[in-house]
Amino acid sequence: MQEKITTLLAEIENFRAENKEQVEAFRIQLLSKKGAVSLLFDDFRNVPAAEKKAIGQQLNVLKNAAQEKINALKEQFDNSTEQSHTDIDLTLPGEPYPLGSRHPISLVREQILNIFSRLGFSLAEGPEVEDDWHNFSALNFAENHPARDMQDTFFISDNYALRTHTSSIQVRVMESRKPPMRILAPGRVYRKEAISARAHCFFHQLEGFYINTDVSFADLKQTLYYFVQEFFGKDTKIRFRPSYFPFTEPSAEMDISCNICGGSGCGVCKHSGWVEILGCGMIDPAVLDNCKIDSNKFKGFAFGMGIERITMLKYQVKDLRLFSENDQRFLRQFEGEV
Ligand code: PHE
Repeated sequence: MQEKITTLLAEIENFRAENKEQVEAFRIQLLSKKGAVSLLFDDFRNVPAAEKKAIGQQLNVLKNAAQEKINALKEQFDNSTEQSHTDIDLTLPGEPYPLGSRHPISLVREQILNIFSRLGFSLAEGPEVEDDWHNFSALNFAENHPARDMQDTFFISDNYALRTHTSSIQVRVMESRKPPMRILAPGRVYRKEAISARAHCFFHQLEGFYINTDVSFADLKQTLYYFVQEFFGKDTKIRFRPSYFPFTEPSAEMDISCNICGGSGCGVCKHSGWVEILGCGMIDPAVLDNCKIDSNKFKGFAFGMGIERITMLKYQVKDLRLFSENDQRFLRQFEGEV
């Protein structure tokens, strides 16, 4: 009996299993009703009374050792099943990542930048919190111009405001570089407007300007015509209406033939066949001088368009507020657009 106990103890100690099934077989072999350990307990009846105490203790040690070993091995295999490579079907297709979409304003900004970069325009940026000089004074805004009014502009202090247009970037670039220059400057701008389908307190503009020794209004027209044809299609026509900006002279607003109805008249163009898309003009010589560019030697044209406006026309978006509400149902419609 003693011998059997010692052999079994050694067997338990040396037992190694490769899987759960082997552990279970080992358990049956030792602890089931007809198992080796159980049979020893049956034999215990025949042990002489004098040895009963000592053998009994050893039997208990044996039983516990068997149980502990089996429990430990079981636990080990339970924990490792998740990592078991045999359970993974490597031939299954991968889980696809849902496709994101770019914001329509970003899309259109990229499209516009792309077109002008083919004409040699390069990118510039400026701060959204701007001082009086760059947003107003250098651009010839009179002291009492209504844009300088608290009613129209978000002032941060006497001298600082959220920029009301990207023309402030024009000033920054002209001050820091020497002509010739062909620049595009996109950015977010702020105005104190009541929020509606057609107006917002912030929106995006894209400013373009060209300064060189021989720049004429014809260059401005041709540049904008090229843009419109590339962006809205070859059938698109343009027209210029005289306008006023403090920093351009002469100034104009440019319309395109309505891309929705092709010019025959619809709700979008209010049955006129034309929609306004930007303001432009020849840079006022006083502005060039303000920025230390010799206005006797250099001339320039500038234009500024609202990116929201262009986007609304291109994708027929009827409400400006959709651009800033982050409604997934709206944004998802631009999935895959580039
Ligand atoms: N800054 C003008 C605006 O915000 C647009 C503009 C830019 C006009 C450049 C002429 C030249 O309305």
